[in-house]
Amino acid sequence: MLSEYVVNDRVKNSGNDNWRPKYHFTAPVSWMNDPNGLIYFKGWYHLFYQYNPKNCDWASMHWGHAVSRDMIHWKDMPIALEPDRDYDNDPEGGCFSGCAVEKDGLLYLFYTASAKHGNKLYQTQCLATSRDGVHFEKYAGNPLISRHPEGALAPFRDPKVFSASGKWYMVVGGTVKSENPEGDGRVFLYESEDLYKWQYKGAILESKGKLGTMMECPDFFELNGKWILTCSPMNHPEYNKALYCVGGMDFESGRYTIEKMGNLDVGFDYYAPQSFLDEHGNRVMIAWQNGWLWMPWCQNWGPTGVENWRGTLSLPRVVSLSENDEICLYPVREFEDLEDEALEYENYEAGTQRQYLYPADAKSFRMELKIDVEKITSRYLEIGVLGKGEKATVIAVDLLQGIVSLDKSRSDLYGRGRMNCRVEMKDGKLAILILVDHSTVELYINKGRHCITSNVYPEKEQTECWIATPYKNAVIDKIRIVSLKSFWE
Ligand code: FRU
Repeated sequence: MLSEYVVNDRVKNSGNDNWRPKYHFTAPVSWMNDPNGLIYFKGWYHLFYQYNPKNCDWASMHWGHAVSRDMIHWKDMPIALEPDRDYDNDPEGGCFSGCAVEKDGLLYLFYTASAKHGNKLYQTQCLATSRDGVHFEKYAGNPLISRHPEGALAPFRDPKVFSASGKWYMVVGGTVKSENPEGDGRVFLYESEDLYKWQYKGAILESKGKLGTMMECPDFFELNGKWILTCSPMNHPEYNKALYCVGGMDFESGRYTIEKMGNLDVGFDYYAPQSFLDEHGNRVMIAWQNGWLWMPWCQNWGPTGVENWRGTLSLPRVVSLSENDEICLYPVREFEDLEDEALEYENYEAGTQRQYLYPADAKSFRMELKIDVEKITSRYLEIGVLGKGEKATVIAVDLLQGIVSLDKSRSDLYGRGRMNCRVEMKDGKLAILILVDHSTVELYINKGRHCITSNVYPEKEQTECWIATPYKNAVIDKIRIVSLKSFWE
């Protein structure tokens, strides 16, 4: 039984940290980044993640492991992959990001082995398998793909494997030589009959100076007859860190025709998303809610190292397509199981004086607002969360221009900035879901048509939640505030 191997009972040691989220996954201790190997396998959801078990800095990547029956309540498992071979053992490398698939009852993990020999970087695509989902064996014939395609540069990583028309395919992120010394980003496609021998088919995404210098963590899947490519570009000119493309795919020729591009989440902290199918066949996505130091706003990943952990994963979000073929992301239904006490208001009148709202747990709640623009004479609406006096993370809605912003310039002592997002108001209506969880604030606008996710690091006493208009009044159709329980309890 898989549950015999659960290593850590977090119920007993949760609760003391100020910044540790209650309903977002964090590693038991130390550093975590990308989600890896997401899969529903033999009745359990498996979540692996980039992990440094030694301390709160990025180094020597392992695959941490957790399992769940519902994608919400997680249990810690023993580390799945350790860097222990010539090809992956390196303090500046290790077992980098990758994916999982099942074939004939066997779990296949594909990962990038990253190592330096001399000063030269080697990134190769490797395999480990498991029957029980607990013990993993690295394939003796590793690496499966020992070299990047001709003309590409050494950064070559993050395999994502899937099946289509009776064959296996893999997308891998990379970069080719260009005028830019850091290269020009690519997503490469490979094909296989048996998951062991892989044949290069070409690039399905080429930056050509427009989309970034290196594509990390690509994913490729079908949704409503379209093929969706997602990846995290480095140095995208507009800092789109979670790029998506909607298009048509011809696997015979390897040709991908892009019809639309967008951004999965315009917040400061949403990177390296990976998708999988849940037990009902829904496409679900989880990302790392942080960023890298090359992003201009990223300051040393915040202060959570003092609590001996660093790195948060997003809630699992269902992926869907709008009628205009735009991607929408919305928390999975299972998440409702964490709902606790609720407050509900109809025709709520907001004015220039701040009005305070009191969720039972002011650090861990969800707040839904249904707004009818016609009923509001004020141009702006502001909602403050995790506040105390002048400090707060502010969600500002400009109803005239149709702009929703997440403003963290007064949130804490660690990071500044404001992310703006232009939104459509269908028939004059706007729906906003705000999720607050100790050090994360997420906005889902119009059922996830736009998402804005950011970390903030408020002090313990920052527990105010308020609503106000800078001038004139506003009547809000509906407000529902629900406290959320910890999934560790
Ligand atoms: C993305 C990433 C991947 C890499 C991993 C290393 O956040 O840089 O490209 O595999 O992190 O931890």
